[in-house]
Amino acid sequence: MKKRVFIKTYGCQMNVYDSSRMADCLSPLGFVEAQTPQGADLVILNTCHIREKAAEKVFSELGHLRALKEAKGRRGGEMLIAVGGCVAQAEGAELLRRAPFVDIVFGPQSYHRLPELVARAARKTGEGLLETSFPAEPKFDFLPAPGASAGVSALLSVQEGCDKFCSFCVVPYTRGAEFSRPAGQVLAEARRLVAGGAREITLLGQNVNAYHGKAPQGGEWRLGELLRAVSEIKGLERLRYTTSHPREVDRSLIAAHRDLPKLMPHLHLPAQTGSDRVLALMNRRHSADDYRRIVDRLREARADLALSSDFIVGFPGEEEEDFAATLAFVKEIGFAQAFSFKYSPRPGTPAAAAPRQVPEPQKAERLAALQALIARQQCAFNQSFLGRVLPVLLEKPGRRGGQLLGKSAYLQNVHVTAAAERRGEIAPVLIREAGLKSLGGALFDRASA
Ligand code: 5AD
Ligand code: SF4
Repeated sequence: MKKRVFIKTYGCQMNVYDSSRMADCLSPLGFVEAQTPQGADLVILNTCHIREKAAEKVFSELGHLRALKEAKGRRGGEMLIAVGGCVAQAEGAELLRRAPFVDIVFGPQSYHRLPELVARAARKTGEGLLETSFPAEPKFDFLPAPGASAGVSALLSVQEGCDKFCSFCVVPYTRGAEFSRPAGQVLAEARRLVAGGAREITLLGQNVNAYHGKAPQGGEWRLGELLRAVSEIKGLERLRYTTSHPREVDRSLIAAHRDLPKLMPHLHLPAQTGSDRVLALMNRRHSADDYRRIVDRLREARADLALSSDFIVGFPGEEEEDFAATLAFVKEIGFAQAFSFKYSPRPGTPAAAAPRQVPEPQKAERLAALQALIARQQCAFNQSFLGRVLPVLLEKPGRRGGQLLGKSAYLQNVHVTAAAERRGEIAPVLIREAGLKSLGGALFDRASA
């Protein structure tokens, strides 16, 4: 009999990937994915712990789910509730204590054990099950092959975890030590995705350019070599990778940007701050000048490269002059886009206990100033494409009828006037509108004339 599983995903693309792999590993048990939690046999929250109140959001969502579970129970049915991901890893037993109606708590490195956990939970042992060890066996060796229909733009996890211990970051504690999948395994998954219709693949890792996986012929590949091999897959048209660390941009990666036309000219390279003093406090182990040099070398290799980044404001000890250095840095590098966040103390990380925490009003003020600057740059970047023809990957139905939503090489959303059957193509689009968040235009080829 078919059973229904509803998976709600919080956080990063790695979690999006993990959620789809969870569905893959539950499908042999007869689970099909549901779009709502109502009446589901199993609900999984795949949680994120990166910033503020993530755990609180999970507890409030769990409150709603408890009501659904009880309602189903009154009708004689059963709904299992499982909490996975980074909050599960960080909170562990505390989660079961605060929410005793939760059946399973499992970490990001143990979800290949979900089928067994679900079977055990269904047998009603009473206590909630806790699986937050970092197993010796890599989960990838136990997951079934991914479902064939990953969409035209697919995610592929190649590296996980982090040994860098930036002083603000919870990831080394929730995702564990750095680990790279063997290149052969990555290539096999990439081929399968392309055979299933993917035109674009994004290689994922918390520290993706720290990749150092076993090469198919022995030895080790770095990310540059892996990209080279993946780009040779016929039918694949676009290749990306995220998220990178400035310390791991090596010669092979720069060469990949120079040599591989399929590697998109867009790089997300978190800088966090433009101040050397704060970079040191953050334990980033590079300077602002190191970052500038990397950008110069990348732009030499690929002149049309656009950069996006992440910034944290109000890190403990950040002074006005440090923040001014960040603003100057954002202008100088000319980021096309960036995400910025108020520093949020994460339990157990060194910076959470650091003296000189920045008061909330100052954090808010700095965030507003930085976001205004970034928005101006992003808008100018988008407007620079007005009147130009861009290749756009037509991904899904658009907001209005007769429209498709696509992505430019620079990851801009593009609303395109196009017939539904053009979906999945990379088509030339004449850009006629450009705002902060998206571009708009119409197909510009013979088929559309
Ligand atoms: N507070 C605020 N932002 C954070 N990030 C990571 N940890 C924190 C934190 N404790 C941001 C960083 C990172 C992005 C994914 O999230 O900018 O690059
Ligand atoms: Fe959130 Fe980081 Fe975990 Fe992704 S890896 S879910 S961003 S805490």
